Amino acid sequence: MSIDVIVAYLHYLSFMLCFAALTLEAFTLKPELNIKDAWKIVIADAVYGIAAVTVLITGILRVIYFGKGTTYYLHHPFFYIKVAVFLLVGLLSIYPTISFLNWLKDLQKNQTPQLELKKVKLLLWLIRAELFSFLFIPLFAAIMARVNYS
Ligand code: HEM
Repeated sequence: MSIDVIVAYLHYLSFMLCFAALTLEAFTLKPELNIKDAWKIVIADAVYGIAAVTVLITGILRVIYFGKGTTYYLHHPFFYIKVAVFLLVGLLSIYPTISFLNWLKDLQKNQTPQLELKKVKLLLWLIRAELFSFLFIPLFAAIMARVNYS
């Protein structure tokens, strides 16, 4: 199997993991959280972080080494739209990730994190906004791969 295939596979696998981790967070997060569910969310967010970095690294590798050539992508509007949406998702995830990391202090003492309803609503809104934005990236990728602008 060529390295090209492995990089493409890792690109797809990692964005599927991003979706899966965010979906799990969206369905698990609630105001009355038990310790098990809080850990689930913290671990899902770590998986999400690793998968997002893998998407980025494999994406860059495809641009430079394994795709249609750097010039093709750098002249393609949908390449920039795709990267911009990916960056937007990254920005949306900053606050939830910092919040979940802050839970670790309580969780290590075997205590449930104290959550206000207002904060849970905001976190859920951000996670749903990330999922919604993520939905469009494969569409932009498909256009980028098929519609030639050069
Ligand atoms: C900055 C981050 C990213 C970069 C630089 C990047 C780059 C690339 C490149 C170069 C290709 C190959 C296109 C071709 O075959 O000519 C590709 C394909 C693809 N990417 Fe990404 N990508 C990134 C993020 C993402 C994300 C976040 C997703 C999904 C949520 C995604 C989904 C896809 C899909 C589905 C394809 C296959 C397109 C097709 O052949 O139909 N990419 N990406």
